[in-house]
Amino acid sequence: MQSLEGKVALVTGASSGIGAAVAQTLAGAGMKVVAGARRTERLAELTATQEYGGEIVTVKLDVTDEQSVRDAVATTVERFGRLDLVVNNAGVMLVGPVQTADTADWNRMVQTNLLGSMYVAHAALPHLLETKGTLIQTSSTSGRSASAGNGVYAATKFGVNAFTEALRQEVTAQGVRVVSIAPGMVDTELASHVTDPQILAMAAKLYASVRTLSPQDIANAVLYAATQPDHVTVNELTIRPTDQVA
Ligand SMILES: NC(=O)c1ccc[n+]([C@@H]2O[C@H](COP(=O)([O-])OP(=O)(O)OC[C@H]3O[C@@H](n4cnc5c(N)ncnc54)[C@H](OP(=O)(O)O)[C@@H]3O)[C@@H](O)[C@H]2O)c1
Repeated sequence: MQSLEGKVALVTGASSGIGAAVAQTLAGAGMKVVAGARRTERLAELTATQEYGGEIVTVKLDVTDEQSVRDAVATTVERFGRLDLVVNNAGVMLVGPVQTADTADWNRMVQTNLLGSMYVAHAALPHLLETKGTLIQTSSTSGRSASAGNGVYAATKFGVNAFTEALRQEVTAQGVRVVSIAPGMVDTELASHVTDPQILAMAAKLYASVRTLSPQDIANAVLYAATQPDHVTVNELTIRPTDQVA
């Protein structure tokens, strides 16, 4: 294992769920963490364990806005002088069948999950090339198999996987590690933003039917991938609740 002490991370989607747990876990491992999201009042609730000198600073970030992404990366490098790890995690899941969909939901998912995460990778890449750093992409088990009702969300995560693999091939020989983490059902507020009331109720029931993962379970996977020696890249990790079949 390599130490993360004193290294610098940018975590997107850090105001709740997986991103919040990742930011706190990385700070607990001694990293200087820049935690970004739109809801700054939620970011303010993050607390860094000071045990190993870790620190969290927050930045208002909308990944659908390319300039906002560039500003967050610039703020990170200005504040801490380098960028070693990006956890590209911001996402929305506004699922529902195609026939009855509000296409505004599709737009938000594509803008956030797909295009937004591409903006983050693009803006961070020059710095990761400099530090021979690590990019961790939050995919999903929906990026492995689509099912009725989640076509567009799945399409964004299939897209994230395609982008991730292409980028990995472009930069791995230059020492940048590109990692994909695909969680199954995690107990976060993700499904609570579904706009169709019927689908919202179904999603809540589905999540309640299994022993879901906790955000910390995914943060542990991020820590595992990030602390491997430089010559080891954990390319893909899929983590499902034991109770989750598909
Ligand atoms: N929970 C699951 O079952 C599950 C399973 C597989 C994959 N995932 C993936 O895990 C990632 C994190 O989701 P989560 O489960 O932790 O859900 P969550 O608690 O809802 O967190 C989503 C995060 O994304 C941020 N976000 C959304 N739109 C954004 C934007 N335009 N700009 C910047 N940040 C934005 C949110 O912050 P603001 O609203 O404050 O901006 C929030 O911090 C997502 O990519 C999701 O697809 C989750």
